[in-house]
Amino acid sequence: MKYTYYGQSCFLLETSSVKLLFDPFISGNPLAKEIDVEKIDADYILVSHGHGDHVGDLVDIAKRTNAKVICMPEIAGWLQKQGVTNIHDMNIGKFKFDFGTVRMVTATHSSSLPDGSYGGNPAGFVLDVDGTQIYFAGDTGLTLDMKLLAELYQLEYAILPIGGNYTMDPDDAVIAAEYVNCSKVMGVHYDSFPVIAINKDFALETFKRAQKTLLLPAIGETIDL
Ligand code: NI
Ligand code: MN
Repeated sequence: MKYTYYGQSCFLLETSSVKLLFDPFISGNPLAKEIDVEKIDADYILVSHGHGDHVGDLVDIAKRTNAKVICMPEIAGWLQKQGVTNIHDMNIGKFKFDFGTVRMVTATHSSSLPDGSYGGNPAGFVLDVDGTQIYFAGDTGLTLDMKLLAELYQLEYAILPIGGNYTMDPDDAVIAAEYVNCSKVMGVHYDSFPVIAINKDFALETFKRAQKTLLLPAIGETIDL
């Protein structure tokens, strides 16, 4: 499986059969200027919640690619008003897609859409794809609900927000990684705005001290999982 980072919480997972794009927000991200949004392809787009830094390019990419959008029913309703029709709405629970199983899990955050309407509960996702189990936490603070994932899964990677203020910071994310029992963490949701800027060396050291690995691929970089 391949992971390509597009900044903030946007990334592409390429499995053996499909391209899964998460939380598309690129053109509004000052750090992602070199990414050509028009070139991003997707079969599915998974949306954690309705905030602008997660849905900024969602409508355009969904219309251009006709990817199926997996999201909360409230976000689905908003998307339909924008003319997006290829949608699979779900809520906290799991569903078996053609590429693998997706479980929508709780996130401790909020969710409203760009027009101010309610976005339903914020969420994260656990994917069971190609024999690999991956957790994307979405935007969330540290929460004991994460311990449930250690009972349900053997996670290979946890993709966690580490910018603080709106979400977990590196200290919290280390505890989250312990809760979900995963040693390889991909950091997202940092540096895009001054209030979520992090000291990368300090973050890497914080994870190393806890015998965990923090991966911080550059924007535009692709790594093999
Ligand atoms: Ni948010
Ligand atoms: Mn956010």
